[in-house]
Amino acid sequence: MKKILVTYKMFRDDFKELESLYDVTFPTEKKGFTYDEVCEMIPAYDAICSMFDFPIDKNLLDKATKLKVVSNYAVGYNNIDVAYATEKGIIVTNTPDPVTAPTANLALGLMLDAARRITECDRKLRTQGTSMRIGVLENLGVSITNQTVGIFGMGRIGKALAKRANACGMKVIYHNRRPLNIEEETTLHVTYVSKEALLATADFVSINAPLTPETHHTIGEAELKQMKPSAILINTARGPLVDEHALVQALQDKTIRGAGLDVFEFGNYPLPELMEMDNVVLTPHIGTQTMDTRIEMVHAVCHNVIGALDGTYPITQVI
Ligand code: GLV
Repeated sequence: MKKILVTYKMFRDDFKELESLYDVTFPTEKKGFTYDEVCEMIPAYDAICSMFDFPIDKNLLDKATKLKVVSNYAVGYNNIDVAYATEKGIIVTNTPDPVTAPTANLALGLMLDAARRITECDRKLRTQGTSMRIGVLENLGVSITNQTVGIFGMGRIGKALAKRANACGMKVIYHNRRPLNIEEETTLHVTYVSKEALLATADFVSINAPLTPETHHTIGEAELKQMKPSAILINTARGPLVDEHALVQALQDKTIRGAGLDVFEFGNYPLPELMEMDNVVLTPHIGTQTMDTRIEMVHAVCHNVIGALDGTYPITQVI
């Protein structure tokens, strides 16, 4: 019987189909298997189900003598050495479908929150109580309607955000490695611009690109300086797309107005300076953190394993 290794803690019920077909190993510890544990176990396994922050690197792949599939629990796959896996004939898959809508929803949520100061007002009401300054000219935010959002990275999530932004009456410009075709641009009401024009024009800049060596620090000191002083930066993609030290400096210098961040450069937590800023909304990588999405992602992971091993489901392969 083929052997499948799941490295993370997840609702077990949703793996039933996988368990009916294969010998599946789950972690018993709260935190899932460690990298070292997986390195020891991997020679016995035909497939591994990995989380987006679990490194599937050369070292691990070299030990994976039987491995045929890496099924990643995420749309992003910057944790995997895809080129090396592919060279070894190992199929790598991801979960784009269930992830698209919730991540775009969160990007819109962060945009609205940062613009209308929702979390800031909530925090102040709770902490300051009746001494919070309230009045028609207090706590003024900015509108998103009639404003321009610049979407950096027009893949599935970028497009889903464009639809939401359209519905809110925003103008949408975007930058992508390749422009969309005219029909799609027309349907989505989006206009392709250079990265420079996007930064100089957008009231909101939303990062929706994958993390690759080319996109690392795609927003750094120079790019922040190109943005409008009134602009708000949103990142729901991966932390290292933004130079977080440069962002702190830009916010301190009022080079830009604010930020909404779901991901951070240095792991699970933002730099402490960001935690002190009222014009920054912070969430701990919750882009896909809904019950429904978690379950749909498990199904996608399992179907990718079954499809790759036995051909009975179509797979979403990363190449
Ligand atoms: C989440 O971060 C994902 O890549 O799906």
